[in-house]
Amino acid sequence: MEFHIITLFPAMLQGWLEAGVVGRALRAQPAGVVLHNLRDYGLGNYRQVDDQPYGGGSGMVLRPEPLAAAIDHALSLRPGLRRILLTPQGARFDQEQARRYAAIESGLLLIAGRYEGIDERVRELVDEELSIGDYILNGGELAAMVVVEAVGRLLPGVLGNAQSLAEESFGQGLLEYPQYTRPEVFRGLSVPEVLLSGDHARIRRWRLEQAEQRTRARRPDLIDKTARG
Ligand code: 6GU
Repeated sequence: MEFHIITLFPAMLQGWLEAGVVGRALRAQPAGVVLHNLRDYGLGNYRQVDDQPYGGGSGMVLRPEPLAAAIDHALSLRPGLRRILLTPQGARFDQEQARRYAAIESGLLLIAGRYEGIDERVRELVDEELSIGDYILNGGELAAMVVVEAVGRLLPGVLGNAQSLAEESFGQGLLEYPQYTRPEVFRGLSVPEVLLSGDHARIRRWRLEQAEQRTRARRPDLIDKTARG
């Protein structure tokens, strides 16, 4: 699948794509990530992408035409992309949504809003609106990186370890069990005896118990969510 990202700041994403584990893995895929510079679709000699708000007020608002042209272009390259507007007003992103996105064959078109706002009519051009949490960012670029990483690592061949994916936090609706490596004693803290026992059935039971205890203590909301199905 492909990730297309419309942004006024492609450089923000470029470095991350080149340096990160998921970004590099995605580049090696037949698919990968395509950046679309919104400025390229700006109006007139100055490539204008924003304007003053009707009705007055401070700040600038992204005009709809450049965004529409960028969206059309991305869709012409890859029909069927799911158009996702990144905005704090969207539905909250979580692991379940990441799994649903990973199953979309064509890919995602992530639209990073910027500035103080975006013309309301742009909402008509997208399939859904997505937020990564209850706080305000200056633009959707960081949110786009969050979505590409969370979804990208679920794709076959990107992470390279299906087992660790299946076991990790949220994989089964629980936080991860505690992990240890060498040394056996660190500053007086010993590795739990069970992990040295070689009794794999016992180890499996212990890890599940730990994961459940830890989830109950730290994130009871996850247990409720899992119980609700
Ligand atoms: Cl997707 N965009 C912005 N600007 N702020 C956010 C966000 C997105 N998600 C949480 N805060």
